[in-house]
Amino acid sequence: MDSTTLQKFLSPIALGGLRHFDSIGSTNNEALAWALNGAADFSLVSADEQTAGRGRSRRKWVTPRGAALAFSLILRPSASESASPSLITGLGAVALVDALRSLGLTAQIKWPNDVLINRKKVAGILAETSWSGDKLEAIVLGIGVNVLSASVPPPAELSFPATSVEAELGQTSERFDLLRNTLQLIAHWRERLATGELLEAWNQSLAYKGQQVRVWQGAETALIGVVDGLEADGSLRLQVDDKFVTVHFGEIHLRPA
Ligand code: ATP
Ligand code: BTN
Repeated sequence: MDSTTLQKFLSPIALGGLRHFDSIGSTNNEALAWALNGAADFSLVSADEQTAGRGRSRRKWVTPRGAALAFSLILRPSASESASPSLITGLGAVALVDALRSLGLTAQIKWPNDVLINRKKVAGILAETSWSGDKLEAIVLGIGVNVLSASVPPPAELSFPATSVEAELGQTSERFDLLRNTLQLIAHWRERLATGELLEAWNQSLAYKGQQVRVWQGAETALIGVVDGLEADGSLRLQVDDKFVTVHFGEIHLRPA
């Protein structure tokens, strides 16, 4: 879809602006640069292909041309969003889980930033912040979704099993319908971020609830505990033996034990 057609297609949504690319390095990089240059709240960068898509810690995120959704939304944070920027990862995840549900798919959120279907990763979320001194100027909410089977990298490139909407649904679906629906749901859940409703929905879709997982940071020894739920700021609460331990956002990895 070209920029003008996409603009029309997304017109029911109050976007601050739109930049759509056939191919780009990373939509998050473009969005961070645009945010520095005055992008309005809810401005969208999207691309048909990313050549340098990023996950956390600069790990590679693969986005082959025309097979996936890759987009980054620029948020100018309100006071409550500035107070809990980590909830923005949950905002993207909950909106996407809802959008997938409307296609008939049940998805879960592997804390902190992955969306799974049938225990396989279908999407990743990368929320990044832009600061001016101690003022949070913008949050870039980057979302990559494997829509067609062709978007799933070969197993040798993966640290966790992956899937696509097409593989899970057993048929192809329209990428841009999913984009429009997800953006609408981000707007919907954003209004419920400060009320606790977003956190509740995130909690409900949390993967491995009541199950034992291993959580670790870098090469440090893994913590083994049972997933209990989320804290008010989106941190993860684990039950380890007879006490609760809070795991904060950061370079954390989580796997079923
Ligand atoms: P964690 O270890 O916490 O689960 P992660 O594996 O999700 O982290 P991230 O940095 O969040 O790591 O995501 C990047 C990783 O995602 C890459 O290292 C690669 O294994 C995997 N990956 C890359 N592209 C895709 C894709 N299109 N679909 C699924 N997985 C992908
Ligand atoms: C992850 O699983 O670590 C997160 C992957 C995030 C990928 C999306 S695709 C759109 C945006 N642009 C990027 O370079 N990364 C995010």
